[in-house]
Amino acid sequence: MHVCCCAAVVALTGVFLSLSSVVAQPIKARDDTVAASAPQASVVWTFPQDTWVENLAVRSNGQILATLFTSPQLYQVDPTGNSPASLVHTFPQQTSCLGIAELGTDIFYVVAGNVSLTTFASVPGSFNVYKVDMTGYSPGGNPSVSKVANFPQGKELNGMTVLNAAQDLLAIADSAAGSVFSLNVNTAAVSPVVDDSTMSPNSNIAPIGVNGVKVHGNKIYFTNTNRNTYTSIPMNSTGHAMRSASTLSTTTSPDDFTFDSNGQAYFAGNDAVMNGPVTGGNLSVFSNSPLVKGSTACKFGRTASDSGTLYVSTNGGLDQYLTGSFTNPGKIVAIPN
Ligand SMILES: *[C@@H]1O[C@H](CO)[C@@H](O)[C@H](O)[C@H]1NC(C)=O
Ligand SMILES: *[C@@H]1O[C@H](CO)[C@@H](O)[C@H](O)[C@H]1NC(C)=O
Ligand SMILES: *[C@@H]1O[C@H](CO)[C@@H](O)[C@H](O)[C@H]1NC(C)=O
Repeated sequence: MHVCCCAAVVALTGVFLSLSSVVAQPIKARDDTVAASAPQASVVWTFPQDTWVENLAVRSNGQILATLFTSPQLYQVDPTGNSPASLVHTFPQQTSCLGIAELGTDIFYVVAGNVSLTTFASVPGSFNVYKVDMTGYSPGGNPSVSKVANFPQGKELNGMTVLNAAQDLLAIADSAAGSVFSLNVNTAAVSPVVDDSTMSPNSNIAPIGVNGVKVHGNKIYFTNTNRNTYTSIPMNSTGHAMRSASTLSTTTSPDDFTFDSNGQAYFAGNDAVMNGPVTGGNLSVFSNSPLVKGSTACKFGRTASDSGTLYVSTNGGLDQYLTGSFTNPGKIVAIPN
C-alpha cells in the first residue's frame, strides 16, 4: 500500500510535499536521466475506473496475478492481452488485498486486510494471510483458498516475500509498525523478526515505513516509503537481523520493487519506475511513461518470450484518491527491457 491519508486533502498534500525535503540526494529531473533508448511502455490490461492495483506476481506459465486495493480481489491478467482479466477470488470479510508471494509452484499467498477506502486508515488486527492454490487454474475456475494466519498484532501488513523456502517461511512488512514478521505457512507460526529504526514510518498522517521486502543472499532488502530509502540488513536464515542496516539508495516515495538476474533493482513508486544496482547507488529513471503513473509494484515475465519484460501494477495516480475525481484507472503495464 502506498499511502494512508486523512480527511484533509490539503494536509496530505503537505505531507507529500514535505517528503522531498528528506531526500538526501534528490533524483535528477526525470527528463534528463531517461536514456535515449528508454523502453516504451504499453498497456496489458486496464481495470475499471477507480481501481487501485496494489501488487502483482507472475505464475510459472506467464499469467499475471494482480491484487486490488480498492476491493478484496485477486485477478489473473493475460500478459498477451488476448483474453480479458479473470476474477480469481474475492476475499470475504476484507476490504483490500496487498502483498502476494509464491512459495511452491503455483501456490500463492496473499495479504488482505481492512482499510478505510475514504480515509485510507488501516484497521489494526484485521490483516490475514491467505493461501491460494493456483495449480491447474484457468479463467472461470475456482481455486482452493484458505486462511493461513491472522495477525492480531499487525497494524498494516503490506509487502510480502519468500524468506526461506526450505523452511516454508515468508517475510511480511508491517508498514505502520515499521517491522517485519516471519510466517511459517505450515505451522502458521508468526514471529516478529526485524524491528529496525530504518523501517519505521515518520509521518503521523500517512505512516508508511517498510513497504516492499525482498530476501537475497543473507540480507533482507526493503523500501521505506515515508523515508524515501532503499535499505539492507544482514540476517540469519530465520530472518533475524544480525548486523546494522545500510541505506543503499534514496528515491521519492518508493513502493514495491524487484530484482533482475543482472544485479539491477527496479522500484515502483509515484509516477516513475527507477532502477539501479541491487547493492545501491544513484538510481536512474527506467520509465516515466504516463502509463506508469501511480506505479505500485513490478515483476519480470517468466516465459522465454517475456523474461526481459517488466510488468508494472498501478493505481492510476495518487492524486485521484486525494481529490476523489477519477480519470485514470489502475493498470498492468509492460515495459520491454
Ligand atoms: C473487515 O471488513 C469486512 C467488510 O466490510 C467486515 O465484514 C469485517 O467485519 C471487517 N473486519 C474487521 C476486523 O474490522
Ligand atoms: C536467528 O537469530 C535469532 C535471534 O538471535 C535466534 O533466536 C534464532 O535462533 C537464529 N536462527 C538461526 C537459524 O540461527
Ligand atoms: C551520485 O550522484 C551524485 C550527485 O550527482 C554524485 O556526486 C555521485 O558521485 C554519484 N554516485 C555514484 C555512485 O555514481
